[in-house]
Amino acid sequence: MKTINVSEAGPAQLQNYLQYAIAPRPICFATTIDTAGNVNLSPFSFFNLFSSNPPLCVFSPARRVRDNTTKHTLENVLAVSECVINIVNYDMVQQTSLASTEYARGVNEFEKAGLTMLPSQLVRPPRVAEAPVQLECTVREVISLGENPGAGNLVLAEIRLIHIKEEILDADGKIDQAKIDLVARLGGDWYCRVTPESLFKVTKPLTTLGIGVDSLPTAVRNSRVLTGNDLGMLGNLEVLPGPEEIDSMANDPRVKEIFDATIGDVANRERELHELARIFLNEGKVSEALRIVLL
Ligand SMILES: Cc1cc2nc3c(=O)[nH]c(=O)nc-3n(C[C@H](O)[C@H](O)[C@H](O)COP(=O)(O)O)c2cc1C
Repeated sequence: MKTINVSEAGPAQLQNYLQYAIAPRPICFATTIDTAGNVNLSPFSFFNLFSSNPPLCVFSPARRVRDNTTKHTLENVLAVSECVINIVNYDMVQQTSLASTEYARGVNEFEKAGLTMLPSQLVRPPRVAEAPVQLECTVREVISLGENPGAGNLVLAEIRLIHIKEEILDADGKIDQAKIDLVARLGGDWYCRVTPESLFKVTKPLTTLGIGVDSLPTAVRNSRVLTGNDLGMLGNLEVLPGPEEIDSMANDPRVKEIFDATIGDVANRERELHELARIFLNEGKVSEALRIVLL
């Protein structure tokens, strides 16, 4: 394992490792204004949602690693404590990147990037009309994390109004995760896109108390067939089945077939049962899978 002591690494090296590892990061496309009303638009992937009540996001215009200068966005929110956080989808990712160009103070990146200004309702900075979601925010606080190159500045943006394009909503009026077509930033020039094929669900262990992987028999935990994800799903079940429930699985024709084909061959029987359990797991039949591996 490569180990890096941060006190011995330079800011550029740190930035590289951390941005590749802490990824993908959502992108805040922030609109701000200066005291003269000049509009600025810049993307920030040091960004996330940190509270839903109050609804609050944080993004971080950092000091440039190259020359330790500060960004217009930071200067603007310190002067006018309002911003719009525009959410970036795939259709606008190239224009978003273009808007990150270091244009001189006073240059409106909406014009440079060919994006459309849409007046906000509560705050002065305009929204990006193309963005699927636009959050009108007031800046509650700006926390400086240092004076050295690479030091972040946390902009605590409290969300006041949420605008959502109708076309990304489902029949219940909620955001359809497959329709919003989000992109995210990774290390270097890498981005990723949330496509319907890349989406999957993991059942929340919210109301239930999973038995835990440590409750599974050693042979199951040390299986050469079952993966960490498989064990995670089995450990998320609430109870270990009783002997009768386990035995009932022996009537499954696929289980029967394995038992008949592996008489006297314990090792292969276990392997084949574990392989069958994986098939059940892939079909979402987790409790049946657990009963199979306990046979
Ligand atoms: C997708 C993307 C994400 C970025 N994320 C950040 C970030 O989190 N923090 C930062 O300081 N700069 C980030 N940058 C670079 C800034 O957008 C860039 O420095 C920009 O010129 C700042 O503009 P400003 O000086 O007008 O505020 C990012 C650039 C891109 C393209």
